[in-house]
Amino acid sequence: MQLTVNGFSMAYSDAGQGTPLLLVHGFPLNGRLWHPQLDGLSDVARVIAPDLRGHGDSQAVPGPYSMDLFADDLNVLLDALGIQEKIILCGLSMGGYVVFAFYRKYAHRLHGLILTATRAGADTSAGKAGRDKMMVLAREKGVAAISESMLPKLLAPQTYPARPDLVEQVRAITLGVSLEGVLGDLAALKERPDSTSTLAQIDVPTLILHGADDQIIPLSEAEAMRAGIHGSKLVVVPQAGHLLGLENANLFNQAVRHSLKE
Ligand code: MLT
Repeated sequence: MQLTVNGFSMAYSDAGQGTPLLLVHGFPLNGRLWHPQLDGLSDVARVIAPDLRGHGDSQAVPGPYSMDLFADDLNVLLDALGIQEKIILCGLSMGGYVVFAFYRKYAHRLHGLILTATRAGADTSAGKAGRDKMMVLAREKGVAAISESMLPKLLAPQTYPARPDLVEQVRAITLGVSLEGVLGDLAALKERPDSTSTLAQIDVPTLILHGADDQIIPLSEAEAMRAGIHGSKLVVVPQAGHLLGLENANLFNQAVRHSLKE
């Protein structure tokens, strides 16, 4: 499905009824990341999975992008879908950075948060230098080179030999981003604010999910968010890396289902 949002055409999936559960993907991914949640949770929630600007089937608009801009796009999407009730907002990795931005701007729309494979802090200076290198790589070698560089880190080490079909599925998802999207994301990632001070302000039920074998964001980041967000709960998902909702969909969905009932 497509809607015009903030001046561009945004693609999204929308399945089920009940409390809206808005799923925000990471870099350099798209809403197809959430297929197991659209399939496995639409009996208990209205599951909405957009492609952020520049990603998947959304329009490849040029940057600059920012976490605030992504949050604005999602806010307009909710209006366009006529959603007035409070939602549960779930973000994976960069999608988690968007969740923090959304919380700061649109907390009144939120019933709960799910922070997945993410962190509160900003990029370190080494991290920012890494973003610059990736931008050069993207400009010189294109999206395929970004896919090649990300693919070996996105899943748990044991997933690669055990599940070649899943690896190919993830490769295809990473190839669905536009060059504008990659460059826009990298600038937004590099410039994103430190959200550590937001943690203590969060006053909605928050579930933190982290893959036990995440190669991109260490578990200590999830533990720090757990310590910083009052009343939050951390579930470590075994047999899963950075893309835990794909790698261990059953446990991921079970944890989300449980939190929806609370
Ligand atoms: C993501 O998965 O969204 C990114 O790897 C996050 C990051 O690089 O900080």
